[in-house]
Amino acid sequence: MTTLENFAAGMPKAELHLHIEGTLEPEMMIAIGQRNGVELPWPNARAARKAYDFRDLQSFLDIYYRATSVLLLEQDFYELTIAYLRKAASQNVRHTEIFFDPQTHLARGVSFETILRGIELALEEAHRTLKVSTKLIMCILRHLSEEEGLDVFRQALSWRRWINGIGLDSSEHGNPPSKFRNLFERARAEGFFTVAHAGEEGNASCIREALAILGVSRIDHGVHCMEDEKLVAMLAEKQIPLTVCPLSNVRLKVFASMQDHNLKQMLRRGLCVTVNSDDPAYFGGYVNENYSQAALALALEGNDLVRLARNSFNASWISTVQKALYLQELDRYCKDNPF
Ligand code: HPA
Ligand code: ZN
Repeated sequence: MTTLENFAAGMPKAELHLHIEGTLEPEMMIAIGQRNGVELPWPNARAARKAYDFRDLQSFLDIYYRATSVLLLEQDFYELTIAYLRKAASQNVRHTEIFFDPQTHLARGVSFETILRGIELALEEAHRTLKVSTKLIMCILRHLSEEEGLDVFRQALSWRRWINGIGLDSSEHGNPPSKFRNLFERARAEGFFTVAHAGEEGNASCIREALAILGVSRIDHGVHCMEDEKLVAMLAEKQIPLTVCPLSNVRLKVFASMQDHNLKQMLRRGLCVTVNSDDPAYFGGYVNENYSQAALALALEGNDLVRLARNSFNASWISTVQKALYLQELDRYCKDNPF
């Protein structure tokens, strides 16, 4: 590893854009699939990995939902989640805000209770043994109707104590934020934090809509904001966080290559950008690989990397006290590891 990569890897950081189903490594998918008697289109992990060659977001989602179909029991959700948390801890992630997609599991007859008990068991273990703090975000699938989303939202209210935020993911084209106006109004009224994927494949107006109509406090991806100078000025002024996922954007052809990614321009414009892994089992790396590959391709400087880590804590939903402690640790790291 280069000095820059080592420095990035060692930084304490938060991850704010991570789909737990997107951490299902092919080996685990095949093993759980066999255990549960679920048929898959790939005979082994190698064949699955070979199929992970995506044209766009939809071609990825088709495979992602298919792979997810092996998850049936509480144990499966526990194993999936604890494996991610161990990996995150090993990459110096101190805090992570994790998405889960209940609708894709409910449709297969898996209960809300099964999903949440499995995930929660792993989160609780991570707090105790890995010293990683967590928040949980329930994502609504935007290719389904708002009524279906409201149905799962009502179920989630019984599990309120374990769910911190409501998000919006899946196919952006043809499913604008405005489709979920009522659901997000209810989510905010119930005191949930709210976020939405916007401006990943969609244009800057999707980001404007997510902010103005859904009232979200953070935008997932948001890389298309750069097409709209007035929007950029507003995002910078209000320091609205954008959870950018560089490897995901390259694998899903949002950018032709990492050299073409606009992360550095976003930083230079003073935006509150963070670096995250999105679906690391599919996109070639966890959070540290996202930092290092972006840093190398875009010639990021030490200061940029520290800014990204600082933003990750500032953009998180942890308490002010906890935030100050993590930021102190980051300052100490920078002092002990002059770059
Ligand atoms: N975009 C939209 N939906 C998703 C993604 C993503 O990157 N990953 C998992 N669901
Ligand atoms: Zn995502």
